Amino acid sequence: MDYSYTTYFAEIYDDVMKNVPYKYWFRYLKDLLKYYKLKPNSVLELASGTSNMTLKIINLQSVKRVTALDLSAAMLARAAEKLETELFNSRKFINYSIEENNSTYHLQQNSKNLTVNFKEQNMTDFYFENKFNLIVSFFDSLNYLTDLNQLQSCFESAAASLTENGLFIFDMNSIGRIKTIEEKSFVIEGDSYQCFWEDIVKAKENLWQVKLKICPDNDQLPCFEETHSERGYKIDTIVRLLKKSGFKAVDVYNAFSLASGKNNSDRLYFAASLNEKRLEQNQGQLKKLYYGTKNRIDYFFVSLRYLF
Ligand SMILES: C[S@@+](CC[C@H](N)C(=O)[O-])C[C@H]1O[C@@H](n2cnc3c(N)ncnc32)[C@H](O)[C@@H]1O
Repeated sequence: MDYSYTTYFAEIYDDVMKNVPYKYWFRYLKDLLKYYKLKPNSVLELASGTSNMTLKIINLQSVKRVTALDLSAAMLARAAEKLETELFNSRKFINYSIEENNSTYHLQQNSKNLTVNFKEQNMTDFYFENKFNLIVSFFDSLNYLTDLNQLQSCFESAAASLTENGLFIFDMNSIGRIKTIEEKSFVIEGDSYQCFWEDIVKAKENLWQVKLKICPDNDQLPCFEETHSERGYKIDTIVRLLKKSGFKAVDVYNAFSLASGKNNSDRLYFAASLNEKRLEQNQGQLKKLYYGTKNRIDYFFVSLRYLF
């Protein structure tokens, strides 16, 4: 695996990703939960990064326990910092305490107690005795698992940590997108850094790599380099691995809609369950149409906002 998400990149990650519409992604997640009639009280987020989605998930009314897992200590440190800033600035929580290890936060809202835990761990190998009824992952993090064995280990770990009626919802870049990303180089000019970005596509290997060179605006400090690698997998392969890992039912969507995902969709969303009948416990065809249309319209306006 390539070395990525070093301390320096973790520091600038949110600035580099400032145009990512997380708010909109969260609205889509909420619609998926409504569609599948799931009010989760415990959520595990895999590859949670600097907690852009975690900080939204803790606002779900039903949620009482959230674990944010990531391989990068630097990304998790940034996540914890952001949670502390939010606790300090917002009036949402009337009280909170932090456990000595600094990675578990107990928050108190008017009528609910919430525990948030940051865990430095590989998503290919985790197990939680206390199972979750929702496991999620966003922003093509699962594409970082660049071989089939890693992906399967991740799915097996998720299956072992999910309740029987829970859902595993994650997004991935489709194989079609990975193969056709345009190779280009550009520079992101930050307030205190320059980030040189180079896309490399190895279409035959279904591999997309991003080489980053980050130079602080300070001649005394060295530049940092890191490479990110994502592999694209066919939908059939992903579904087969999920089933091999214990999942009994899988729905695949073209992201931000409830239409079936295809290998050439840009981004895909998967909803998987251990119970064969669980995905059928949904709000039915009319609501599916409603949520699908609502999210496509939403997507159109979000795209406009980021175009101009
Ligand atoms: C594109 S970022 C997405 C972060 C976050 N989900 C978001 O939406 O901003 C990918 C994340 O995956 C994490 N990651 C990559 N490989 C991982 C692994 N094997 N186990 C756990 N986390 C991993 C990285 O540290 C990074 O935080």
